[in-house]
Amino acid sequence: SLLLALRAAGVAGALLSPDFLFLDGELLPDGFSYGCGTSAYQIEGAWNEDGKVESVWDHFAHDKGKGHIAGDQTGDLAMDFRHTYKKDLPLFRRALGINLYDFTIAWTRVQTADGKPNQRGIEFYRDMMKTAAEHGMQTSCTLYHWDLPQRLQDKYHRWISKGNITRDFRDYAELAYNALGDLCDTWVTMNEPHSFCSEGYGPDTESAPGYAGPIDLTYQCMHNALLAHSAAVQLFREKKAQGKVRGKIGIKLDGSPGVPLNSSSQADIEAVTKNNDFGIGWVAGPITSGDYPPVMRTAMGDTLPKFTEQEKALLKGSYDFIGFDAYTSQWVTPTKGKCVSDSDAWPSCIDSFDARPRSNQLIGRPTGSSWNFQQDTTVYDGLKYLHERWGAKELIVGENGMAGLNETQLPINQFVRDADRIEWYRSTLLNVKRALHDGIPLTGFVPWSCISNLEWSSGYYNDFGLIRAKPGRNQTRTPKQSAAYLKGVLTRGNSIEP
Ligand code: NOJ
Repeated sequence: SLLLALRAAGVAGALLSPDFLFLDGELLPDGFSYGCGTSAYQIEGAWNEDGKVESVWDHFAHDKGKGHIAGDQTGDLAMDFRHTYKKDLPLFRRALGINLYDFTIAWTRVQTADGKPNQRGIEFYRDMMKTAAEHGMQTSCTLYHWDLPQRLQDKYHRWISKGNITRDFRDYAELAYNALGDLCDTWVTMNEPHSFCSEGYGPDTESAPGYAGPIDLTYQCMHNALLAHSAAVQLFREKKAQGKVRGKIGIKLDGSPGVPLNSSSQADIEAVTKNNDFGIGWVAGPITSGDYPPVMRTAMGDTLPKFTEQEKALLKGSYDFIGFDAYTSQWVTPTKGKCVSDSDAWPSCIDSFDARPRSNQLIGRPTGSSWNFQQDTTVYDGLKYLHERWGAKELIVGENGMAGLNETQLPINQFVRDADRIEWYRSTLLNVKRALHDGIPLTGFVPWSCISNLEWSSGYYNDFGLIRAKPGRNQTRTPKQSAAYLKGVLTRGNSIEP
């Protein structure tokens, strides 16, 4: 059969070159990226080495006894990646078969307190990317994954102050483009603005800087983040025209695609689009069309800040690709009611609309984090929404993964047979296959995460890693069974069925 022939080609291909990728025994399109993701604060450690300055996460974690991070854990040492990258990167490649390493640059490691380039920090990223390249991996460099310099927070409450954050972010982006532009293959301006804005500033803060206040703060933060994003993209395009950077640039956004509570109810189906506009569209709308989705404007009125015509023009089309970070869905049904915000501060202040997650009652399949098991269409639904509603011209699955239930309690030297995570990725890969089959312009898949890491306020208790390790110095790393599963499907032509 064709499948068998392709599978045979898979074996032959794998022997000839490690760089062919497969999905369910069929060759993936040329140029498809298969990576794994990490972020600076979650893995690097070395929090005050190389002349690195304090970030809001360093500050937050060191402010102990307040319950900021479970068990008062910190990222001071984290997975010690700053010192172990020369061994870790080849291991990521070997264990997973990836052709892309997706990492984030710590603003505080490459820029000094007075805004100058910090050569020692820059050298680390340069050498790290060279190491990735030597081992057959491209690099995706994210400028911002939540670790704002503390000095900017102290001085100006940066993400919520009106004005200068755009200039600060643009300056930092310029520094990074100049210092690393010859080595980065792909750029991401920022990771999940909705997460750092709703968790960092507003009514339900659980992340740094933990700036509590009304929901308006979350909106202002998102607004500023979008403006900063568009400024960094504009600068990237100028630099690219001058030959100083290469590749493409995008953004990673999160959101929980809606699922109709009752799939035969027209009202519930309509509530899905509203839910998605209000969640995923908060970022996708502005960067594709130049403004927030109309439903947000109608519902929020003046609480939602306004873009000037000039800002709209800069935002519109300010991406080459969008990374969709998929973890869970939410059930939706319209209700008559006033503003509700769930524990995530997910704003659902839409009249006649309430999208609080119902998964507890309806799915009830727990994982090691507070999210339940993803639905069997979560990834597909988000990609399809981005493609159909906003015409996204290129998409990647920017993150997807799960924390294993009770996994961190296993003895550290025990091989993790993570059947639940394999089932999770089986479902994801079926979604990826369906998206490609339906002509959705999907060009990459990046599971989260390469290795165990600090899961923000949950500390090291939630482990999303495909390779297991403990925080601290000189810790062993052991690929989990799911790593071999992904490698088999993506690089050996194995079936998606485990
Ligand atoms: C979102 C974030 O980008 C990442 O930092 C986090 O660890 C994972 N998703 C899992 O929650």
